[in-house]
Amino acid sequence: MAILQDILYKTGIKSVKGTLDINIKAIETDSRKAAKGTAFIAVRGVHTDGHQFIDAALQKGAVAVICEIMPAQLQAEVTYVQVENTAIATGQMAHNFYGRPSESLKLVGVTGTNGKTTIATLLYKLFMALGYKAGLMSTVQNQIGDNVLEATHTTPDAISLNALLQQMLQEGCTHVFMETSSHAIHQHRIAGLRYTGAVFSNITHDHLDYHKTFEEYIRVKKSFFDSMPSEGFAISNADDKRGTVMLQNTQAKKYYYSLRTMADFKGKILENNLTGLVMNVDDQEVHFRLIGEFNAYNLLAVYGTAVCLGQDKHEVLRCLSVLSGAEGRFEYIVSVNKRIMGIIDYAHTPDALINVLSTIQKLRRGHEQVITVVGCGGDRDRKKRPVMGEAACSYSDKVIFTSDNPRSEEPSEIIREIEAGLNTAAKRKYISIVDRKEAIKAAVSLANPEDIVLIAGKGHEKYQEIKGVKYPFDDKQVLREVFEMLEK
Ligand SMILES: Nc1ncnc2c1ncn2[C@@H]1O[C@H](COP(=O)(O)OP(=O)(O)OP(=O)(O)O)[C@@H](O)[C@H]1O
Ligand SMILES: [Mg+2]
Repeated sequence: MAILQDILYKTGIKSVKGTLDINIKAIETDSRKAAKGTAFIAVRGVHTDGHQFIDAALQKGAVAVICEIMPAQLQAEVTYVQVENTAIATGQMAHNFYGRPSESLKLVGVTGTNGKTTIATLLYKLFMALGYKAGLMSTVQNQIGDNVLEATHTTPDAISLNALLQQMLQEGCTHVFMETSSHAIHQHRIAGLRYTGAVFSNITHDHLDYHKTFEEYIRVKKSFFDSMPSEGFAISNADDKRGTVMLQNTQAKKYYYSLRTMADFKGKILENNLTGLVMNVDDQEVHFRLIGEFNAYNLLAVYGTAVCLGQDKHEVLRCLSVLSGAEGRFEYIVSVNKRIMGIIDYAHTPDALINVLSTIQKLRRGHEQVITVVGCGGDRDRKKRPVMGEAACSYSDKVIFTSDNPRSEEPSEIIREIEAGLNTAAKRKYISIVDRKEAIKAAVSLANPEDIVLIAGKGHEKYQEIKGVKYPFDDKQVLREVFEMLEK
């Protein structure tokens, strides 16, 4: 409950019709959720314009309307507030409505093309290990201390985001680590939040279906750093081509991490193999359980962020060295007898798949075969199917094409489209098995001792969506069962 006037702070009011001295029980951008006492905010989305639903919200009992264009007909008992931009106003109002929770927390946002979930999750785990109660908001899951909340898959909207921050604060969290996607920044879902720290991982050509050009994608990410307050800190990857541009105009204190040049947080890889990373970090030699060069970057980002948050360097490295990564991100299990290395990874785009497979190639000592199990989701970008097929074959010794989440499509048809991208050499390397469990079984059967089996595409997901039904399916669990069954 709040007074309308009190939650309009920083919303950029242009005009008001009616009284601002009314009680607001909830704020909503979805007219279907409006009820007695709701303030309805008309936001223009990609597909629909909330202004069309003002009447529907009023019928449900909304008492205030926040809009960019005043409706032609105004109702006498309703308050109308016209603002410059309702998406920004939603962020500000949500933050005000929930008591400006980010100002009482240390909130850190992580942005970049790859590594957001990994970095945010590692930060969360690190701060828990350091004895704090931490919150995590990621595409895999939200957590308040040890309590796991339902997975969301996307950054929540401004209203649920602030409600969650308030809950985290009320439950005693001191630090919150949040994956901040370029969509969330662009749609102003984070408007109003006060960040203590902003972290940049890297940038590649991804999400271009949404942000029409690469320049636009960079501009959106950079705007997150531009909006950081001077008391905050911004930390960036000095080895990424766009690493410096990101921090060019920020008011926040600037820090860089690097594996290649002088930087505030400097790391050097001493060993990088399938048992982990050995790195020299600020003159200390540390062993980490995470593997691959990209994780060396993620670890440096986490280390630098923790130090910027005032933590002791030695203590941070000690805790970090025993942490495992985020679920389904280059997660591995080794079979007991044949020492087959099974890797589960969420890679479901050609870019990510090549990334993961080239990391595996670099980790190989020479004799191991790489056997990849992969598919493509249905009802999604069809153009990537042949490219995924090509990528899997060029970087693996053997490939088994299978189903991912076929959704409404025919699984065998999707596989045919993947196969269409294969050249003659690639055609000798693969087989296709529609059933994902059978495919994993086949991959493990083909493996010799110490070979590497990559199961790509689904990572942490616990289901497989076939013809509109979600069936329980967990790559890691299935792999464990297959290892046990075949090594009896
Ligand atoms: N720093 C990194 N650089 C390149 N690839 C990475 C990095 N960190 C993780 N990866 C790989 O990239 C993929 C995505 O990792 P992760 O889920 O951490 O990223 P994300 O930024 O959260 O992605 P999304 O935008 O899908 O939420 C995985 O295949 C992972 O193994
Ligand atoms: Mg993510």
